[in-house]
Amino acid sequence: NGGTEGSGSGGGYPDQNITIVVPFSAGGPTDTVTRMIADPMAKALGGKIVVQNVEGAGGTVGAGQVARAKPDGYTVLMHHIGMSTAPALYKDLGYQPLEDFETVGLVTEVPMTVVARKNFEPTTFGELVTYVKANAGKVTLANAGIGAASHLCGLLFQSAAGVKLQEVPYEGTGPALTDLVGGQVDFMCDQTTNTSGQIAAGEVKAYAVTTPDRVKSLPDVPTTAEAGMPQLAVSVWHGLYVPAGTPPEVVQKLSAALTAALADQAVIDQMAKLGTAPVPAADATPQAHEAKLTEQLSIWAKIIADAGVKAS
Ligand code: MLT
Repeated sequence: NGGTEGSGSGGGYPDQNITIVVPFSAGGPTDTVTRMIADPMAKALGGKIVVQNVEGAGGTVGAGQVARAKPDGYTVLMHHIGMSTAPALYKDLGYQPLEDFETVGLVTEVPMTVVARKNFEPTTFGELVTYVKANAGKVTLANAGIGAASHLCGLLFQSAAGVKLQEVPYEGTGPALTDLVGGQVDFMCDQTTNTSGQIAAGEVKAYAVTTPDRVKSLPDVPTTAEAGMPQLAVSVWHGLYVPAGTPPEVVQKLSAALTAALADQAVIDQMAKLGTAPVPAADATPQAHEAKLTEQLSIWAKIIADAGVKAS
């Protein structure tokens, strides 16, 4: 009946395709998580979801695009810990995470792995630290741009090891992993949702995981704490966002669809295979997500300041 349907009041929503923007390259960990939940979410919403990769600047280009999109629920952002670090790393960010977005809900918190090209000399994490200290000028460390999870993990590694390495930025850790397998770059810190397959295939070497406990699907990979660098502790939390001003009923519908997707057995199984799990249902809510983002913004502002890194 045209009138109330699709008027953005949330009543007829959705009545057109929904785009979820992934601010990193296709095939990377953020893209993988998004494509895992897109169909179950679309089913729960009774609509269609398309995933669009908008790369650049550690995820801030894609995030900025969504901040400026119409607040009608048809443009959604999937982003991760990088949402909480960008304000401390970018002078002219162009958006304020808490002001320019509504949080929809948390999705998953992904462990990271320290991985290297398979013929890189060090065979253990301890040998890696010794090696990079002796060869700092030569060793290359891949990441997905300033503020990306791989960049943050690399920051923690370098400050704990007391070295400055040559960082090689990519538009996402999907392409970075391709170069790692090809031997064009030495090592990287990246999420199990991206590296699990290549570790299992023996195409990259895994030195450690960055979680307090070992990852069930990577039982032989020690934790950084076991390997002597407890400071290297970081998990990549992911959440969904819409532009500020999106009608609350629409936000609620998206959060309910996210909750349904995270309860989908295929999603649970796929995440487990890749070393992670959905957040508990209570965390897939706008309130829990906002609390997490608020807490993480202050935690990372301090970590980045303590590491002596200035916004650029
Ligand atoms: C990606 O999806 O490429 C990663 O999330 C990039 C990163 O944050 O390291």
